[in-house]
Amino acid sequence: MRYIDELEIKGKRVFIRVDFNVPMDDSGAITDDRRIRVVLPTINYCLDHGAKVILASHLGRPKGKSEPRLSLAPVARRLSRLLGKEVMFAPDCVGEEVEKIVNSMREQDVVLLENLRFHEGEEKNDESFGKKLASLCDIYINDAFATSHRVHASNVAITKFVKEKGAGFLMRNELEYFRKAMESPVRPFIAVIGGVKVSDKIKVLENLSDKVDKFIIGGFISLTFIKAMGYNIGNVEIEEEYVSIASKFMKKMKEKRIKFYLPVDYVIAQRMEPSAETKIVTFQEIPDGWTPFDVGPATTSLFSEALQNGKTIIWNGPMGAFEIDAFSRGTFAMVQFIANCHALTIVGGGDTDVAFQKVGQFANVSYISTGGGAFLELLQGKTLPAIKALEE
Ligand code: 3PG
Repeated sequence: MRYIDELEIKGKRVFIRVDFNVPMDDSGAITDDRRIRVVLPTINYCLDHGAKVILASHLGRPKGKSEPRLSLAPVARRLSRLLGKEVMFAPDCVGEEVEKIVNSMREQDVVLLENLRFHEGEEKNDESFGKKLASLCDIYINDAFATSHRVHASNVAITKFVKEKGAGFLMRNELEYFRKAMESPVRPFIAVIGGVKVSDKIKVLENLSDKVDKFIIGGFISLTFIKAMGYNIGNVEIEEEYVSIASKFMKKMKEKRIKFYLPVDYVIAQRMEPSAETKIVTFQEIPDGWTPFDVGPATTSLFSEALQNGKTIIWNGPMGAFEIDAFSRGTFAMVQFIANCHALTIVGGGDTDVAFQKVGQFANVSYISTGGGAFLELLQGKTLPAIKALEE
């Protein structure tokens, strides 16, 4: 795969697929602009090297129809402020009007196209839509790591019709940090895995099982393992078919001598509400009618001890329902431990980044991935289609 700094971009129309799928409040205000800021190095590189910059992204899931609420216009305004220069906003991403705007561009101009997903062809990976997008540019750059698990026209079909293609600096960072951890980790290598969906996470555990020295398991997924050990897990719906898979997995870890840490206590409540009464119980004593919503204080101490000697640490998925204060301690404590580790620390997916932001430790981790689903699929060992398309 080639990167943008290996291509001759001066005077060229450079189409950059970015992921500006930013959160917005009901009034349409951007509540977190990290996804815009992370691609500034690629955009600025293009400007410094005299390119014409055409940016394209999706926002939300409009399902092939134009939805004013999901317009990228507010993103163009924010980007303009961050770059300190005018960002033209095109009212569509293909068609005559867009071609006119692009044809009139001069070096160092920046245009943001309207939401790609306003066209059905985008999510269908439609070749003719990909061809129309490709006709807008001389060079195609993909810097939308967080979308690279999708087979969509702007990251797959388009690559068949462009003369030159490559990846941006965000993509390079994402892939290099990940590879560093996976291919040549300084040991001990520890994976901290939490979250809710065991069917997703078991694939992660399987993929990492011949790479890591230690697993630390928290969150809802840990309950499938507690159940596999024969204990009651209270009022919890789990994917039952995974109980025996979890049991086999623990056996395999024992045979391979990979350390496998599970919670030893939980914070339980009868409802997932801020005002609900809570109790702390050991994993052997979860009563019927109660639900574990966070790991308990003994688990927090155990996990902090287990992390002490880590030299490479990957974390995906929270320890509990941290959006509610009463169930946030386990996740926030993990943020503090990881932030204080003398290790290569990589965090991503499932709101794990949000936890770092909430605790104010965003700067104290080696790398926070911008990917949710994309980061998870990398952890599962899958090839990301957008990356494959850049390599072909
Ligand atoms: C994300 O937010 O994970 C990406 O922007 C992909 O969005 P999607 O899940 O709607 O495809």
